[in-house]
Amino acid sequence: MDKKEIIELLQSTGREREILLKRAAEVKKQVVGNKVYFRGLVEFSNVCSKDCLYCGIRKSNKKVVRYNATDSEILDSCRFALENRFGSVVLQSGEVSSPVFVKRVDNLLKTIKKLSDGELGITLSCGEQSRETYARWFESGAHRYLLRIESSNPELYYKIHPKNKNHSFERRLESLRFLKETGYQVGTGVMVGLPFQTYDDLANDLLFFKEIDIDMCGMGPYIEHEGTPLYEFRGSLKTKAERFDLSLKMIACLRLLMPDINIAAATALQAIDPAGREKALAVGANVIMPNLTPCIYRKEYQLYEGKPCLDEDAELCRNCLEARIEISGNEIGYGEWGDSKHFANRTKK
Ligand code: 5AD
Ligand code: FES
Repeated sequence: MDKKEIIELLQSTGREREILLKRAAEVKKQVVGNKVYFRGLVEFSNVCSKDCLYCGIRKSNKKVVRYNATDSEILDSCRFALENRFGSVVLQSGEVSSPVFVKRVDNLLKTIKKLSDGELGITLSCGEQSRETYARWFESGAHRYLLRIESSNPELYYKIHPKNKNHSFERRLESLRFLKETGYQVGTGVMVGLPFQTYDDLANDLLFFKEIDIDMCGMGPYIEHEGTPLYEFRGSLKTKAERFDLSLKMIACLRLLMPDINIAAATALQAIDPAGREKALAVGANVIMPNLTPCIYRKEYQLYEGKPCLDEDAELCRNCLEARIEISGNEIGYGEWGDSKHFANRTKK
């Protein structure tokens, strides 16, 4: 697929759109099968040193009460994941790179590995770090890392981030390179429907994923948050329904472009449509991240408005998920890591 074709697919409606979604579903089934893998998401701290212009937990949002879940709370969530045969957890936080933070994550990784007898796969999503930190965490048991590029167009990147040393596009690219060189399965992604974003940008994002040869991807709709600078541009956005639909088409196109990668059904989809994640699973996604963040912290981890599952406990989330996944014709890969086939293929070579 070239850029022109991708743009046509992203703009498709009616029958053409149906064909795109159907083909993506077929390719998914053929190449990665119809298993959906669970990653229990633990948002263990909302302390963040950055000020991304779209994000509800940005440093300058003084309305957010900052938290650090305790080790025992985090380990409880991991135990829950283990007992419920989730296979993997994702530890996510705001971006902090102090030695204390680096050490804390390191210890957590070792403890989780020990507690699960190596059974739980661990993905990290803790932002940009030094090459040494990435290596240290890898040694201690993390084997996948998520770091969204947010936009592969540097001009757009600087419209949605402050233009300073702390928010460098180059550094983000470099971080993705470090992660890959360290040996992680690398995941990235973008937000769909950002202010100033064009179809051309989105098509380039997909080609960028292909070019840097990612193993995993998470893409969801951009959702405006009142406590952020980008809120000012809410009048220029596509409707939420349009952003949702465009996210589905991005997922479908990516499945056609990179058939063997893992694609997550982003939680932001569910903030627009209650069955949003399942719809993504039906058109090419194969990973879902049930929220295992201790309930007392959830309302302080609102990256965007209308984030779902704020007051549901993890158990409830899991039950409703299970039923829906089975109805959507997929099967749950219980107790499996569900690693990216693409990673296996590219490292075999
Ligand atoms: N809308 C949608 N997604 C968001 N993220 C952050 N803020 C928003 C928002 N307002 C996404 C970013 C980040 C991921 C953890 O959450 O892409 O990488
Ligand atoms: Fe925390 Fe963007 S605001 S990393």
